[in-house]
Amino acid sequence: MDGNGRWATAHGYSRSAGHEAGLRAARNIVEAAVREGVGTLTLYAFSSDNWKRPGAEVTALMRLFRRALLGEAKRCLDNGVRLTILGRRDRLPSSLRHTVEQVEALTASGANMHLRVAVDYSARDAVLRAASALRGDSVSREAFGELVARVDNDRLPARDVDLVVRTGGEQRLSDFLLWECAYAELKFVSKMWPDFTADDLAEALADFRGRNRRFGLAPEQVAS
Ligand code: FPP
Repeated sequence: MDGNGRWATAHGYSRSAGHEAGLRAARNIVEAAVREGVGTLTLYAFSSDNWKRPGAEVTALMRLFRRALLGEAKRCLDNGVRLTILGRRDRLPSSLRHTVEQVEALTASGANMHLRVAVDYSARDAVLRAASALRGDSVSREAFGELVARVDNDRLPARDVDLVVRTGGEQRLSDFLLWECAYAELKFVSKMWPDFTADDLAEALADFRGRNRRFGLAPEQVAS
């Protein structure tokens, strides 16, 4: 969800107003993703490196997350969306942690789509913590993937990412789901996140459906 700050600056608003606009875009995209039949949607809301932002912005974001979770829980329930948080929880304000637990419990039966909001998330930290849990044992890719998911309280069995859409014109992964993105298709969009619409999501999905995914095989092997 990149570009909230630049969108705000371009419109003469505060960065907080940009994040509010980002929340409105997120609401639209979640509903559009359900309609499109997306199985799991992960929104990258706050990376572990985002703690380094100015304290006032971090505090405002933590408040926004709590308000958003409280405000969206009923909508998720109505849309059959299971909402969970991906990332470390021990550094979140306790009020937010409590809200996360409430919303996760309330929406646990949602079967139409799994919405993961990544907060205090770092893929490299997740891989490191999973590797430490191994204590020198060697395991399969699948088993390691389960460990990576488990350290962030994610659902099991773990799944690879099919498509990453990054808004805001940047073309990098920024520590997002590095293990799970081994064969992800990447789509970079110049629009700022608050301007990203259901039509943009549909276009990204159409583009994804047209990709030729080979997973290391030769083209003729894929064709057969
Ligand atoms: C990146 O834009 C966006 C964020 C750091 C926060 C995004 C959070 C929300 C939209 C709230 C969503 C909440 C829920 C619960 C779904 P940026 O600030 O890095 O923008 P910039 O690159 O233009 O500075």
